[in-house]
Amino acid sequence: MLAFVVGTRPEIIKMAPVIRECKKRGIADLIIHTGQHYTYEMDKVFFDELELRDPDYMLGVGSGTDAEQTGKILVGVESALTKEQPDVVLVEGDTNSVFAGAFAATKLHIEVGHVEAGLRSFDRFMPEEINRVLTDHVSDYLFAPTANAEENLLAEGISANKISITGNTIVDAVHQNLRLAQKRVSVLNELNIEKKNYFLITAHRQENVDNKARLTGILKGLTELHYKFDAPIIFPMHPRTKKRVAEFNLPLDGVTPISPIGFLEFLLLEANAKLVITDSGGVQEEACILKVPCITVRDNTERPETIAVRSNLVVGTDPDRIVTGAKAMLNTPRNWSNPYGDGDSGQRIVSILTRAFEACGVEI
Ligand code: UD1
Ligand code: UDP
Repeated sequence: MLAFVVGTRPEIIKMAPVIRECKKRGIADLIIHTGQHYTYEMDKVFFDELELRDPDYMLGVGSGTDAEQTGKILVGVESALTKEQPDVVLVEGDTNSVFAGAFAATKLHIEVGHVEAGLRSFDRFMPEEINRVLTDHVSDYLFAPTANAEENLLAEGISANKISITGNTIVDAVHQNLRLAQKRVSVLNELNIEKKNYFLITAHRQENVDNKARLTGILKGLTELHYKFDAPIIFPMHPRTKKRVAEFNLPLDGVTPISPIGFLEFLLLEANAKLVITDSGGVQEEACILKVPCITVRDNTERPETIAVRSNLVVGTDPDRIVTGAKAMLNTPRNWSNPYGDGDSGQRIVSILTRAFEACGVEI
């Protein structure tokens, strides 16, 4: 049996292609949801839109400090795994749910597969960087999306025979859902915006939005972009960001904040945006796949492939650099190629696991 541990928006979206592939092949699976994300628009909407079945375990850990959240996830996952004894536990990405899920499994001598292994920002200030490194080092199967991610793992001494380059499952998710989004959702009409005539922004990184100066810089940059280009700035606001904007009492001049939206709605907004502005990992990848220019309001990125193909520019949070970066990216030809694979990562990951288990005489 394969067990999936998921807990947040990006994990649900990026694990969905692997879960679907297991369903297609009739492989028994178990879904453990940590409950790190829990409000409808951060969680259930993705199960509905991506047609995933309900989780078998809902741990309901909710929000808290890193230690509280990680500790509760460890206890909950340990208890579910002890009861169910799966053959392998799969986690995706770099959140507290990912690290705690992987750590609980490995301590029970259950094999761990890390989807999206090997990403590195080399910035230990980010909680995600610590989660990624620790998860990779307890994993038995490392599904690296690109050759660059594989190199990062080899440089840390992880043995080559544990690593496979699979592409990123986000390509599968985009391919599986973009046409559906074009058919089903009318978010541009609802927001009264025109194709290629608006900017789309997401920002939620702890080191950005919990820091008043950095969040102020981002918002000022957005205001300048709005007036310079006379274009709407659509900002589906993560709950962490909404909380901080209110707490710091920051103005949203020229910015249209909306609630977080479903994946289909968000894909359509991304595909038709003039430019994407983000500090999200997944959004940098999606903009690259959709051939929409992107600027990243951070000081580094663990997605260097997007910089190499010139779909993305890291600009920090200074308003002038945001505007200069946006102008530069708007003038960049959209002819880069997608470095994240051809959309069959889910199939590859499941095939690697089934072959490994067959070799040991275990049928999954
Ligand atoms: C987490 C991950 C981050 C990931 C992001 C995806 C860690 C350390 N961080 O950050 O890597 O990029 O998810 O979006 O694991 N909240 C709600 N409703 C929810 C969830 C959260 O209102 O469903 C609010 C709560 O006030 C909470 C805050 O958002 O305190 C932050 O949530 P949390 O899960 O701790 O971190 P994220 O910023 O979402
Ligand atoms: N996303 C979404 N609705 C939104 C904002 C983002 O569906 O309102 C999706 C987006 O398409 C991407 C994922 O959420 O697949 C990225 O998640 P997030 O930015 O929260 O986390 P990160 O990728 O930075 O870990």
